[in-house]
Amino acid sequence: MSQQYRITLLPGDGIGPEIMAVAVRVLKTVGEKFALNFEFKEALIGGAAIDATGEPLPAATLETCKQSDAVLLAAIGGYKWDSLPRHLRPETGLLGLRSGLQLFANLRPATILPQLIDASTLKREVVEGVDIMVVRELTGGIYFGQPRGIFTTETGEKRGVNTMAYTESEIDRIGRVAFETAQKRSKRLCSVDKANVLEVSQFWRDRMIALSAEYPDVELTHLYVDNAAMQLVRAPKQFDTIVTSNLFGDILSDAAAMLTGSIGMLPSASLGASNPGVYEPVHGSAPDIAGQDKANPLAQVLSAAMMLRYSFDQAEAAMQIEQAVLKVLDQGYRTGDIMSEGKTLVGCQAIGDEIVAAL
Ligand code: IPM
Ligand code: MG
Repeated sequence: MSQQYRITLLPGDGIGPEIMAVAVRVLKTVGEKFALNFEFKEALIGGAAIDATGEPLPAATLETCKQSDAVLLAAIGGYKWDSLPRHLRPETGLLGLRSGLQLFANLRPATILPQLIDASTLKREVVEGVDIMVVRELTGGIYFGQPRGIFTTETGEKRGVNTMAYTESEIDRIGRVAFETAQKRSKRLCSVDKANVLEVSQFWRDRMIALSAEYPDVELTHLYVDNAAMQLVRAPKQFDTIVTSNLFGDILSDAAAMLTGSIGMLPSASLGASNPGVYEPVHGSAPDIAGQDKANPLAQVLSAAMMLRYSFDQAEAAMQIEQAVLKVLDQGYRTGDIMSEGKTLVGCQAIGDEIVAAL
């Protein structure tokens, strides 16, 4: 009997639907090969949901996600919705999905592929061999802390407020994910904070040090976030696993992504304790190239592979997808964002055809 998996698809906005179409074809192909039976259900999120229902995360979408085994998300947002009030913005839908499913751990791998070294803006010797995992806290910190808002003070002046706060249990659960992730890699964990200025960061660091007693095989180091940003572009190979808070992780994961040449290559997994995981590319919805068949679907395809590995425990199927992507790059096929001299420029669907053929 074949394995049954229910997958919620959230194509979202911009290039989302195009890259999702490629990932679905790839999943169907490995599904046939490995006798995995995928049941896909599409739901609305982001700008597409605002247009159809008036809100960026309809209750029905969250419910569909909860009823499934995993969620594959493409991208949300676009110029069209940028001037809406905050509670109606596409980003609010994404944040609502993360908190609604309690996906506190965001895994963002940044691995440089030998085929794409020349697509990096950094020198070959700096980026060759880079293999970093950023473990970003995703449902706490300044993204969700209270109070927040734009208030009027007693003197009548306006004042914008957000709050960076972490409880012990919030730090400990992301810390454990990070230590366990490091244990499966090269056992080096760097915790990034701003403990020289922020109490919340000092507390973060204290907790990481306390937790490290339970993981004697993992070497724990600490960096201030400004230094970490510098080190990431100066000497990225010193990093293996990085653990950090929501805001710092948002920033550092973009920097880590660019080491690899294109943010269009990087998948991510958002995991919680009980609900289904959400798998999505690190990149955004690229409204400037939406609907033109120019987008790079590889991060979306690699996100589907991560889903097979982490949520369905189908490591072999995941590996075959990753190898098909490498093969297509070896054959010289490139989308515009990773194009270099002597390679063959293809569109989003055409590179998808090549991945399917490689499988
Ligand atoms: C990301 C994005 C989101 C974030 C935005 C779209 C809300 O930048 O996933 O990194 O800030 O977390
Ligand atoms: Mg970001």
